[in-house]
Amino acid sequence: MYKIVTKRCLNDSVTLMEIEAPHIARKAKAGQFIIFRVDEKGERIPLTIADYDREKGTVTIIFQIVGASTKLLNTLEEGDSILDFVGPLGVATHIDPNAKRVCVIGGGVGNAIAYPQAKALHNAGIQVDMIAGFRSKDIVILEDEMGAVSDHLYIMTDDGSYGEKGLVTNKLQQLIDAGNKYDEVIAIGPIIMMKFVAATTKPYGIKTLVSLNPIMVDGTGMCGGCRVKVGGQTKFACVDGPDFDGHEVDFDELMKRNTFYRERETTDKEHVCRLTGGKRNA
Ligand SMILES: Cc1cc2nc3c(=O)[nH]c(=O)nc-3n(C[C@H](O)[C@H](O)[C@H](O)COP(=O)(O)OP(=O)(O)OC[C@H]3O[C@@H](n4cnc5c(N)ncnc54)[C@H](O)[C@@H]3O)c2cc1C
Ligand code: FES
Repeated sequence: MYKIVTKRCLNDSVTLMEIEAPHIARKAKAGQFIIFRVDEKGERIPLTIADYDREKGTVTIIFQIVGASTKLLNTLEEGDSILDFVGPLGVATHIDPNAKRVCVIGGGVGNAIAYPQAKALHNAGIQVDMIAGFRSKDIVILEDEMGAVSDHLYIMTDDGSYGEKGLVTNKLQQLIDAGNKYDEVIAIGPIIMMKFVAATTKPYGIKTLVSLNPIMVDGTGMCGGCRVKVGGQTKFACVDGPDFDGHEVDFDELMKRNTFYRERETTDKEHVCRLTGGKRNA
């Protein structure tokens, strides 16, 4: 069992939890994720490792409450425990030792995933400009944390209620037009946002990394649930990723696959999973 040592609401729909998991904290790196199961009836749910403390033996997760499993997780309090907490999974983000300046872009709860990447780059002595996009002021998260690990932090809101009004891609274009030179752009957020960040950087040949979030089941490369097309080849995001070259990803196919189960997820019908051969909640 994995004990919740800290629980903090970042906004009405996003929660931070610090979980006691010393064996994961010992090995965790930016870009990796865990898969949790609240109890024996729970689904396996992937969440990025937002932070870790090797001395305390804890791993921090930040999650948006979107459906049954994240709702259930959010009912737990400090001192309660989670049944399974497996990781670290996936390939850690590659930090290019020759990079001098990187622009990290987060969208919504994607900022929780972008933050550890910005922190890792900052700790490696790389200059970090961060563009953090949110729909409105009330859902801004991690502003102090992101500010502490970036040389410039630009907060963008769709409605202009905080920071600058506009999309993250507007700010990125503005920074490129102003002559800022980036060795790499890292984008993490809604698929549509990552698609347009990649389209913005492509004409300039700026290397662009995106962190993909397909449906995952086992997280070990066995079930094929998380397959994505990258450079015309099939990759499994759980073992080959989740970071991929944004100029090579087939975002349209990923969007189609991610909406495939939506109807089922929004109904109460019991689902028999074709991937695992058992009940969804088995
Ligand atoms: C590698 C990876 C890292 C992620 N990191 C984070 C994170 O740090 N914070 C965060 O808030 N979210 C993260 N997600 C998304 C998170 O896994 C989903 O929000 C969660 O699974 C929703 O489950 P639910 O039962 O609450 O909602 P549901 O109602 O079951 O699903 C809501 C939506 O979540 C997605 N989803 C559902 N089940 C899965 C699954 N097994 N695998 C992947 N996506 C699923 C689908 O898009 C679905 O439409 C990550 C996803 C991946 C693949
Ligand atoms: S989640 Fe099963 S292959 Fe990736």
